[in-house]
Amino acid sequence: MSHPDPDTAALIAAATAVRDNAHVPYSGFKVGAAIRTLDGAIHIGCNVENVAYPEGTCAEAGAIAAMCAAGARDIAAVAVIADSPQPVSPCGGCRQKLAEFAAPDTPVTLTTVDGAVLETTVGTLLPGAFDADYMSRV
Ligand code: THU
Repeated sequence: MSHPDPDTAALIAAATAVRDNAHVPYSGFKVGAAIRTLDGAIHIGCNVENVAYPEGTCAEAGAIAAMCAAGARDIAAVAVIADSPQPVSPCGGCRQKLAEFAAPDTPVTLTTVDGAVLETTVGTLLPGAFDADYMSRV
């Protein structure tokens, strides 16, 4: 099933491809994430688990790390995919990580391998986000 918007379809395709590389010996739950930055580039990440369970990292965090490593900072769109009954919901930490680099109206496409799609935004995922304004008295 293809997304009607070609740019979003390409982002989902990138997330789908990188999901294959997820390292998930403990949960078995593979996740892929893709970020398009304002310059049009796509940055990808998958979840990478660790035998010391809290040391695992989410797919979104991997894509953000790849984005920063490439010298980019401004997120234009995000896609996340997993084999879940409903479009996969980013964890709280990843919502905050995305908000660091994205405006509240930045589109986030949450999907399943079966083709279910939920379109949302960074601001909807994290209303009332803590941002630098709260530190303005420092
Ligand atoms: N996970 C992600 O990578 N992204 C999400 O949006 C939800 C959860 C990962 C973390 C862990 O490796 C596995 O999914 C199960 O929680």
